[in-house]
Amino acid sequence: MTQLEKLIEFLNLIGYDEVRIGEVQLSAKDPVSLLKELEEEAKKCCKCRLCKTRNNVVFGEGDPRTNLMFVGEAPGEQEDLQGRPFVGRAGQLLTKFLNLYGVSRDKVYITNVVKCRPPNNRDPAPDEIKACYPFLEKQIELIAPKVILCLGAFAARTILNLPEKTPISRIRGKEHRVEIGGREVIVIPTFHPAYLLRNRRGEPEFQKDLENALRIAGFLK
Ligand code: URA
Repeated sequence: MTQLEKLIEFLNLIGYDEVRIGEVQLSAKDPVSLLKELEEEAKKCCKCRLCKTRNNVVFGEGDPRTNLMFVGEAPGEQEDLQGRPFVGRAGQLLTKFLNLYGVSRDKVYITNVVKCRPPNNRDPAPDEIKACYPFLEKQIELIAPKVILCLGAFAARTILNLPEKTPISRIRGKEHRVEIGGREVIVIPTFHPAYLLRNRRGEPEFQKDLENALRIAGFLK
């Protein structure tokens, strides 16, 4: 923990949220509390039509201080029912791959581009992605990961600002350095685990990308 983080924790402990030093107003809230506040905001969000059909907002979960973030497309049926990301069949495959490298889900952070389930698992619409993007951007800024593994084309196109039809097969495995929230983050697109459930042949490439991300994040030597 840095000296600044210790000071922030102490100020929070004695009940201060903000400190004024001369002309400068400092927020004494730590990123973890700000992330919780963001989640509360997301839970009330109705900026697009998906709020009318959702059971739960699936904000994201994991270690808010991790170096590795996973971003998928949108919650599916199980995720919508449980309010947790990647808990259905595709999620179980993702968890299995992480465990293969001795990494548990709670050591990384997992979220989606869109926080509410599109009806019948249809693709999220461009206006839904646009309405939800500020939540993802703020999550990335607060968590400040070293590396983001984009699971599938929607996550990669959104974070890398690529044209709508860009195929994942063309962009997977490449390391992109992108500035998000005022700092540089490495973004690696890879296949979506749901794709792997239908195409087991994609697994070696997925594992290569996952290993690369785990190495950059410091989970592997
Ligand atoms: N697919 C996704 O993209 N995200 C989930 O949370 C589950 C399935």
